[in-house]
Amino acid sequence: MTDQIDTDLANDGMPKIKIIGGNPLHGEIQISGAKNAALKLVCAGLLTSDELKLTNVPTSLRDMTTLADLLRYLGADVDMDDNAKTMSIRAIGGVDKTLAPYDLVRKMRASILVLGPLLARHGEAKVSLPGGCAIGSRPVDLHLMGLETMGADIKIEDGYVIAKSPEGGLKGAEILFPKVSVGATEHLLMTATLANGTTTLSNAAMEPEITDLAECLVKMGAYIEGIGTNKLIIHGVETLKGAEHSVIPDRIETGTFMIAAALTGGDVTLTNTRANTLDSVTALLRKAGADVTISGDKIRVRRQDDLKSMRGIDIMTEPYPGFPTDMQAQAMTMLTLCDGAGMVTETIFENRFMHVPELVRMGANITVQGNSAIVRGVDTLKGAQVMATDLRASVALVIAGLCATEGETTVNRIYHLERGYEDIAGKLSAVGANIRREN
Ligand code: UD1
Repeated sequence: MTDQIDTDLANDGMPKIKIIGGNPLHGEIQISGAKNAALKLVCAGLLTSDELKLTNVPTSLRDMTTLADLLRYLGADVDMDDNAKTMSIRAIGGVDKTLAPYDLVRKMRASILVLGPLLARHGEAKVSLPGGCAIGSRPVDLHLMGLETMGADIKIEDGYVIAKSPEGGLKGAEILFPKVSVGATEHLLMTATLANGTTTLSNAAMEPEITDLAECLVKMGAYIEGIGTNKLIIHGVETLKGAEHSVIPDRIETGTFMIAAALTGGDVTLTNTRANTLDSVTALLRKAGADVTISGDKIRVRRQDDLKSMRGIDIMTEPYPGFPTDMQAQAMTMLTLCDGAGMVTETIFENRFMHVPELVRMGANITVQGNSAIVRGVDTLKGAQVMATDLRASVALVIAGLCATEGETTVNRIYHLERGYEDIAGKLSAVGANIRREN
């Protein structure tokens, strides 16, 4: 049965990544702009009729082109320059349509974030319920609760959210999130900038991508207090203006390469990054036994002794500044090769252990119990045919492939991987990995 699955995957005609593991990584990797910040910043472009120019954008990511297509469909002008890594959005005089169709929205969950800006500026919007990575049910109830508290009339019909602003526009409101949500915080933050009066978002998420969005909105003329805290106070303004903003470096891409460097026993410097957004990841690596040094916008990661000098430790995912759920799969790959055992507890998403059976195929020793996994370190991982249906699970398998000292690893279905990592094979082969992308 497994042989049949392997043959089917090998011949499915889809792009793959092939890795022969065992090479320590050495050199410098330049970190891209953060996808999870850039997506929301692009949506913020709908809030003004002036140009919003973004720099340090990860323009080659599929999620960026998907969102650009959605904005163009709505009637905005969007220019992307993959060499300059810039993106300009001009929703001059508003947009032609306020309908975001299923075909464009299903590819990416973040598309729901056009709803609030359309509503705030045009008084109505119809947006398909979103798709994205298959990591749990991922509802949008908190987004809709917030918009309703601001006076919007919301109906769900045939898989679409249909929203209308009250007469005179959305109203400022006191919103207390019963659960911390990155997307809902960003969505309501953007929407509230154009509401009448003051909105307070309490128990708001504090991820660095939210701070980046808030700082861009302030450049656009928004009036926001409490940036970087879990209480955001937004005083609505009549209109926003254009601005230029550089997207923050991707902390998850940085953390992914930090783990790859430590695990392969290399010496890698990540450039154009921001160490102060990675405290929990740096602490984890140091506790496990890696050497992490920080200097300006660079982070250097080394492992001086053999692999067994790395120790198994316990990890729990939490909202920022806790350990990010988007680093959980990569950290689990690290534990598979550390000395001793470690427990990984996932508190943000249910069903986010899809990498486990694939790591086990490569020789890992992992037992899952509910939302925790016990990982007992093994001596080696072996190359195998693997696949994943979630972005971070896929990259965890790439790291496992870089460490597998026997055989070749083929990561299949790299569609999700390419939604979040710019030229991962190119970046890793430039620091000595034996990795190639096959069409
Ligand atoms: C964002 C990130 C994603 C990251 C996640 C948590 C983007 C594009 N994606 O996703 O990479 O893993 O933050 O750091 O930035 N929830 C509800 N109702 C809602 C909204 C969320 O119950 O209306 C739940 C979710 O199912 C999940 C939890 O809240 O269990 C956190 O989700 P949220 O923080 O909203 O994640 P996203 O913004 O979707």
